[in-house]
Amino acid sequence: MLLSFLRKNLRLTGTKYGCGGGGCGACTVMVSRYDPQTKNINHWSVNACLLPVCQLHGAAVTTVEGIGSTKTKLHPVQERIAKAHGSQCGFCTPGMVMSMYTLLRNNPQPTMEDVTEGLAGNLCRCTGYRPIVDGYRTFCEVNSSRPELFSKGDLLPLDPTQDLIFPPELMRLAEVKDQTTQRFCGERMTWISPGSLNELLQLKADYPQAPLVMGNTNIGLDMKFKGIFHPVIISPTQVISEWFVFVGVCVGAGCSMSFLKSVLERSINDFPPESTHMFRTLLQQIKLVGGQQIRNVAVSTLGGNIASAYPNSDLTPILAAGRCTLVALSKDGRRRVPIDKDFFLGFAKTVLKPDEIVLSVFIPASRPNEIVHAFRHAPRKESALATVNAGMRVWFNENSNVVKEISIYYGGVGATILSAERACQQIVGRPWEEATLSDVYSTLVDEIKLGPSAPGGKVDFRRSLTLSLFFKFNLLDVTQVDIPQKMQSAIQPLPKHIQPGYQEFQNVLEGQSAQDPVGRPMMHRTALSQATGEAVYCDDLPQTDGELFLVIVTSSRPHAKITHIDFSEALKLPGVVDVITAKDIPGKRFRTFTGYDEELLAEDEVTCVGQMVCAVVAESKAHAKRGAAAVKISYEDLQDRIFTVEEAIEKESFFLPRRQIERGDVEKGLREAEQVYEGEIRIGGQEHFYLETQSFLVIPIGEEKEMKVYLSTQHPAFTQVSETLGIPSNRVSCHVKRLGGAFGGKVTKTAILASITAVAASKTGRPVRCVLERGEDMLITGGRHPVWGKYKVGFMKDGRITAADFQYYANAGNVVDESVLVAEKILLHLDNAYNIPNLRGRSAACKTNLPSNTAFRGFGVPQCMLVVESMIDDVALKLGRLPEEIREINMYKEVSLTHYKMEFDPENLVRCWNECMKKADFRQRRQAIDIFNQQNQFKKRGIAIVPIKYGIGFAEAFLNQAAALVHIYKDGSVLVSHGGTEMGQGIHTKVQQVASRELNIPTSLIHISETSTQCVPNTCPSAASFGTDANGMAVKDACQILYNRLEPIRKKNPKGTWQNWIITAFLEKISLSATGYYRGHDLDMDWEKQEGKPYAYFTYAVGCSEVELDCLTGEYRTLRTDIVVDIGRSINPSIDIGQIEGAFMQGLGLYTMEELKFSPSGVLYTRGPSQYKIPSFCDVPLKFNVYLLAGSSNPHAIYSSKGIGEPTVFLGSSVFFAIKDAVTAARKDAGLTGPFQLNSPATPERACLACATHFTQMVYESYSNPFLSDPP
Ligand SMILES: Cc1cc2nc3c(=O)[nH]c(=O)nc-3n(C[C@H](O)[C@H](O)[C@H](O)COP(=O)(O)OP(=O)(O)OC[C@H]3O[C@@H](n4cnc5c(N)ncnc54)[C@H](O)[C@@H]3O)c2cc1C
Ligand code: FES
Ligand code: FES
Repeated sequence: MLLSFLRKNLRLTGTKYGCGGGGCGACTVMVSRYDPQTKNINHWSVNACLLPVCQLHGAAVTTVEGIGSTKTKLHPVQERIAKAHGSQCGFCTPGMVMSMYTLLRNNPQPTMEDVTEGLAGNLCRCTGYRPIVDGYRTFCEVNSSRPELFSKGDLLPLDPTQDLIFPPELMRLAEVKDQTTQRFCGERMTWISPGSLNELLQLKADYPQAPLVMGNTNIGLDMKFKGIFHPVIISPTQVISEWFVFVGVCVGAGCSMSFLKSVLERSINDFPPESTHMFRTLLQQIKLVGGQQIRNVAVSTLGGNIASAYPNSDLTPILAAGRCTLVALSKDGRRRVPIDKDFFLGFAKTVLKPDEIVLSVFIPASRPNEIVHAFRHAPRKESALATVNAGMRVWFNENSNVVKEISIYYGGVGATILSAERACQQIVGRPWEEATLSDVYSTLVDEIKLGPSAPGGKVDFRRSLTLSLFFKFNLLDVTQVDIPQKMQSAIQPLPKHIQPGYQEFQNVLEGQSAQDPVGRPMMHRTALSQATGEAVYCDDLPQTDGELFLVIVTSSRPHAKITHIDFSEALKLPGVVDVITAKDIPGKRFRTFTGYDEELLAEDEVTCVGQMVCAVVAESKAHAKRGAAAVKISYEDLQDRIFTVEEAIEKESFFLPRRQIERGDVEKGLREAEQVYEGEIRIGGQEHFYLETQSFLVIPIGEEKEMKVYLSTQHPAFTQVSETLGIPSNRVSCHVKRLGGAFGGKVTKTAILASITAVAASKTGRPVRCVLERGEDMLITGGRHPVWGKYKVGFMKDGRITAADFQYYANAGNVVDESVLVAEKILLHLDNAYNIPNLRGRSAACKTNLPSNTAFRGFGVPQCMLVVESMIDDVALKLGRLPEEIREINMYKEVSLTHYKMEFDPENLVRCWNECMKKADFRQRRQAIDIFNQQNQFKKRGIAIVPIKYGIGFAEAFLNQAAALVHIYKDGSVLVSHGGTEMGQGIHTKVQQVASRELNIPTSLIHISETSTQCVPNTCPSAASFGTDANGMAVKDACQILYNRLEPIRKKNPKGTWQNWIITAFLEKISLSATGYYRGHDLDMDWEKQEGKPYAYFTYAVGCSEVELDCLTGEYRTLRTDIVVDIGRSINPSIDIGQIEGAFMQGLGLYTMEELKFSPSGVLYTRGPSQYKIPSFCDVPLKFNVYLLAGSSNPHAIYSSKGIGEPTVFLGSSVFFAIKDAVTAARKDAGLTGPFQLNSPATPERACLACATHFTQMVYESYSNPFLSDPP
């Protein structure tokens, strides 16, 4: 693929690997081709991970390195994303830059819609997208009178003369139109690109099983992820791509979606308007296929889409409904084949013969009185495969509403697209009116059936979608009659225009020196390098001499004894050097977490699918992968498998200790309450989805057992592999330059993976690299704990909660990892912002046979609080009051004790609440929403406001410490090292600001190179929102020591410069190097006594969100979010606001869209961005405002700031509760009131079913079981 060619062969490492499957955009590059007919040069953004290099003959490829650099000149797209604070960890940034760059090459004055469309295929896990949108908004508009986090005045202008020219030799090549056959032979595979159609047909006859690789978006994924091997591949891209106009449009099967889009746009202009219905519909549908890169050249062709015959294709239902035909060609001749129900035979099967190719597709123009529409519903609004889609066409008799012909096709409801033939027969010859349609719904519900275990699940939802999509078709211009105002909401699109956000922060104190950067918005210190692709991540390190690659072999059984590991076949394969098993580990074969041992490599027994068993090291990644596939592990299955928390409870399978905490007398509180309610909620897990997967490079030095470990970890000291190798720690140095995101996921499993890689390096005596593929990473490393929360609450009619009793069960997985600590933290946040006098919580970390879960931003708190807030919602619904009223009534209002008896002052919590209410204009909007909901039947709006009180610091006192090492060199430049790792949260930038203030020098003199155990030993993890608090203090200490040492020199020469003082100090033999140390708070929690001071202080925040929900599909948009946060005095408002927005979006993903799916035998299905949806550009609140609370300070942390990395994840739940609020309004229309259970994530499926519309009821009624009054 182009990606590995760029990275390994050309050493252009700016282009990143994020998923390898076209789903994340990290590998985006620009491909340009010269068109000899039009004399134009066309540019496309494409996914390098899907693009075979052989396909690029005659094309120019531009990577991020080619458009600008910090060494020469930046390109404006690089500068603007950096200056707008749109690059945190930076791993996604080159891909963003290249998507935007390509857009500007094609359209130098884009609209905001163009920008969001152009970036839809790019994912970012850190920023929350708002700053990227705002940075690139500057290409669309310039004026703004508001205070901003970055100044637009000094941005580089867009200058086309800066762009590289298209190579003239490629133009000449294109003019000549080389017809010779190209043949590329690899170690195992031959790639043939025929020069003529005849040759293609001959090849197809010779190799009928060889696939035609066009865009490679389907075949490439099969080869990569399913291990399908094709010895011969035929690539006919130049042979079958022309198009021409007939009484419709005839398109070459090899044309890309983007090209088809432009053909249709042209046809819409050229044809009479009444004939263009089909073209417009198809155009609208194409715009929703994948992201821009997927639709582009050489990627994703029309012919490939049809021939792939997969059931979720967005095009085939509409092509079938729209009477399209194709021309199939083979050596035996050509035939015209209708694309209809008879064309698709089953999953990935068509009537095409093995030696036939699709030459072209004919798309007919619409006839008078013919109406065509297409629909799709997907788990994410953009860049996601459809759950259900449909193509519908009706042709009426002239001047009549009697149906002459109708065609309805659905995708996503079977192994192939389905024609609703019986429903169609119901309509033909009848007038299009209520009675007819009512018969159609009844027939459809009977005709489009899915078995309870149909692949893809979501059976009721998919069935209800088939009805509601037809309902939408009916309401669209089909009826030609006035639709009642209330029903129009069924077809009005959800709002999608992203408006500029507002960010408010405190100004620095009057009198602060202009040079002092503390408290000012300052760009991430390496944002420009990140935007130019110069920033070095672990896998960007150049290959070292003799380097090997390691691939992990994992268990395929959830619980089994290992009876034998046979790697003899693997060792015979070319390139395979060795296989590493537990027996090869010279030191400890396990790591210990919270008193439990975790094996590095399983020896006798496996306890989950995905557990690491052994590892293959080989000369290259490809060889190691082949070797890993050849390892045979024999198992003896053990029957006592546990997957769910219910099973764990039944079998008492827990990691101990189980904790409990109580204040007051819960039983008494419940007895005295006027009402008691019992409820529950389930919160699904979450994948970290850091863009950079786990990466390691271990280099044996070859002398005195020294090892250098380069890796991507939050906790370098913990990954010091000395225990595993049985050598002293002073022989191993760990180096972390930066991480491409972590979010808690690069601590424990990272240590294990580093240890395994180190064993391989030690055994072979050669450098070993290990970089997990996305699927491996998702399978092996676990994520956030899914939690089942149950509660019993007692309350008074006036809304006061008198008692609450909570029970939490977290699915910990097969090993303990940090699960016991997570279960503890859950209990410590039980009170959230509420003073509930009688409060009890119990939590359990359930031991199951799923991959172990681990730390994840918020460490259990986001799960804990969702349960608490659900309880509040239920109390409100029980009392018929608004949730915000119940929240306000029960909130802490004066200096109080938490349930673990820690005193705190909630003043700033209450201020955040009041400010948020005010800034969000909450009460007026609540009224406006009520009116909207009365006027609209199928779209409902909802609003919610939630508070958070989040404890900062580690409850384990020893982790609250940090050290730093500061060197001043003779030229005055300063090198700062500290124990924190830079993973996008901006710790190095903040530390640089600290050093600048303390040494009173500009930040430009201060450098931070990496985090290394050689400079700072015994580091603590960069976690718990405590990194800057601790390391900032250590750096401050070191800088103050140095500054004081220079005092005599400064006194002697007060007018001297920094450089003068330093050189004088050196000549006077004053040490210019100092260590700093911070002995943090002595925090503790006594679980026996159920009291303690586990946190240094609290960060407070309140978030308010409003959504609009389509009750027919469950799709929603966040219309607006306002967040007010108390972070004391921010050291760097742009970085802190970035953390707030990024965490909020991660919370939004957790609570509304990210769903992990396991098979009944514990196999993780969701192993990449195509199955697991994290928020994308389309999920950003349309208006996103963040306010840092004014006039706040904090005596417990550096410069009066507060930790902020984790707390606002929970504010994403404001979107969850806003959806629930909208659902409540829909249920009211359906006559349902009172509490109802909405589990997290509130996916479209759950939201739609909970709305209990007429169509979902029809689906339930269609079962022999009576209608379920409480939808699942
Ligand atoms: C990240 C991602 C997102 C996607 N999102 C969507 C989406 O939202 N909606 C949607 O509909 N699709 C989506 N797709 C699927 C994509 O549209 C199809 O994979 C694509 O259209 C297939 O075309 P291709 O040229 O890449 O086919 P290839 O992978 O090159 O080939 C696929 C198959 O078709 C056969 N074939 C190709 N051309 C011909 C021909 N002319 N004659 C006969 N056989 C042929 C090949 O032999 C092969 O078996 C997505 C794919 C990816 C990777
Ligand atoms: S790496 Fe290519 S799209 Fe993710
Ligand atoms: S900055 Fe986008 S993934 Fe980290």
